[in-house]
Formats: sequence, structure tokens, C-alpha cells
Amino acid sequence: MPVASDSYAHVPVMEEEALELLCIREDGIYVDATAGAGGHAMRVASRLGTGKLFVIDRDPDAVALARTRLAGYSCVTVLQGNYSTMDALLARVGTSAVDGILFDLGVSSMQLDNPQRGFSFQTDGPLDMRMDTTASVDAAQWLAQASRSEIIQALRDYGDVGPVGRIANKIIARRDSNRMNRTTDLVAAVTEALDFLSSMPMEVRTVFQAVRMAVNEELKHLDTGLRRAASVLAPAGRIVAITFHSGEDRVVKQIFRGWTRPEVLLSPDGRIIEKHAPVMKQVLRKPLLPSPAEISRNPRAKSAKVRAVERIPC
Ligand SMILES: C[S@@+](CC[C@H](N)C(=O)[O-])C[C@H]1O[C@@H](n2cnc3c(N)ncnc32)[C@H](O)[C@@H]1O
Repeated sequence: MPVASDSYAHVPVMEEEALELLCIREDGIYVDATAGAGGHAMRVASRLGTGKLFVIDRDPDAVALARTRLAGYSCVTVLQGNYSTMDALLARVGTSAVDGILFDLGVSSMQLDNPQRGFSFQTDGPLDMRMDTTASVDAAQWLAQASRSEIIQALRDYGDVGPVGRIANKIIARRDSNRMNRTTDLVAAVTEALDFLSSMPMEVRTVFQAVRMAVNEELKHLDTGLRRAASVLAPAGRIVAITFHSGEDRVVKQIFRGWTRPEVLLSPDGRIIEKHAPVMKQVLRKPLLPSPAEISRNPRAKSAKVRAVERIPC
């Protein structure tokens, strides 16, 4: 029997909104592209009758947890892999078209709360941060190999970090003397760079976020993942994305905008050569934000934004 209620550290964000936007039919086929602890997936699965749910995660620990938590639902298949290969993962299980796909981006609480995973600046652990623990480059290796300008670019693009040059210099000084192997080493580099502050700088959190996003190439996979999702989306099917970071939201917003506007091909002298009708329509006029009640229950929801598109039948 499915587990009706069990407690895991990860509380699903904007669950009701995401479920409603997916417009679940009991005979439909759905994908949860980011299993995590399987919270959203469990809610989708509980609404299915003859339908199916494919659940994906690149993190082997998340896959193991989702398999355990969702074991009672015969409609669920859990797949380990990157959602940027979603079409291939689904083809392997004989599926080429689905009615709804959910992306719930960022890290899970299980990843953050396990010091051995190296995602958190609040506990000492190896400087790892790989979502896919079989990937070859962890955070320590990424920082060891990156040039100063690559480090600066990541801190700027993924962390909105202000004093990037000072922080990059301290990271490089430490890594060059083999003192950049633990999460506490990265905290120390940021603290040393901003030693005029009396308390731990707020930048520590954003530097960890930036390094994590660089190590996991999160925005690159998001771009590809959304396009692969569109390639398997059936007519009237929906893609729902929950973002937590301005960079993630920008990728989702731009891709959705491209799909929902007519595509016009111009000749060099400005004449219209081809015009294609939009392939999707926006489901929401503006992104949905969490309610104050949800933020007070679950502070992780604070920066969440939900966007959704629907495929226009040809
Ligand atoms: C915020 S958690 C999802 C939580 C989940 N919705 C729940 O209710 O428990 C995000 C998950 O996405 C996974 N993830 C991130 N990028 C991925 C990618 N490119 N491919 C597959 N999984 C990814 C992470 O490993 C993490 O487990």
C-alpha cells in the first residue's frame, strides 16, 4: 500500500499550485523531472488511476529514496539520469509522449543537510557539491582547475556576489597552497576576503550557491532539459517549472517566451521570409509566488516562482 504520510526533511514547495497547473488526468502520463524526496511525485501518483508517472533524478541517493517512498504506487517508474536527456530516458521505457512535466529546481534538503555532500556552509565536510555523485568533477576539483576569470564569472552569474575579485583572489591563494578541500576552507576564503565585517558575511551563502551551480552546470542542463521536455510533450500537455534563483527563472522565462510568441524569420533587408505560429501558450499571466503562510511554514519557499506553458494542438 502507498505510504499515506511519512516525514522527510524536504518539504515540497508550492505543491497545491504545481498540482493544479499540471491538470492531472487519472489516465494521463506525467514526468517529475526532479524527484528529490518524491514529495511532489507522491501527490501526482495518488491522483492517477490507469495513468503513469516517470520520476527522474541525477542524484543516486534521491533515486534510492524516491524508489522507497514511491514503492507502493504501481504507476510509478523511477529513473536515474539527467533531465537534459529526458527524451532518451523515456524512450528506454517505451514512452515518447507525456501530458505534463514538473521541474522543481535547486537542491533538496537531503542534499543540504548531509555534511558529506558538501553543499552547506553551515557544517564541515568535503568540498563536493555534486548532485550526481558519479560525476567526475566535484567542487574542490572545479575550484582547483578554474581560472580566475571563470571563478569571477560564476560568482557573478550564479551568486550575484558583489566583491568577486577579492573573493576569487582568496580562493586562488588557498587552493594554490592546498587549503581548499573542505566546506570550511571555502567559508574561510570568503571570510578572509571580507575581513572588515565582524560577523560571517552573507556572501558565504551566495558563494556556495554559485559554486554549486557551476559544478553541476545547472543552467546549461535546465536550458537543454526544457527543450527536451517540449520534444516529448503531447498536445495540450503542460510544463510547470518552480525556480528559486534569478538565473533559473531567466532561463525558464526566456524559453517559455520563445515558444509562446510567433517566430518570424527575416531576410538581411528586413523582409519576412517565414512566420511560424507559437507552439505553446502561457498558462499564467504572471508567475505564481508562495503565500505568506507557506513562507512562514517553509522559509525555503521564499524565493520560489512558478511558471507554466501548455502545448497548442496543431
Ligand atoms: C528541490 S529538489 C526536488 C524536491 C521534490 N520536488 C520533492 O518534493 O521532494 C531538486 C532535485 O532535482 C535534482 N536535479 C537537479 N538538477 C537535475 C538534473 N539536471 N537532472 C535530474 N535531476 C536534477 C536534484 O538532485 C534534487 O534532488
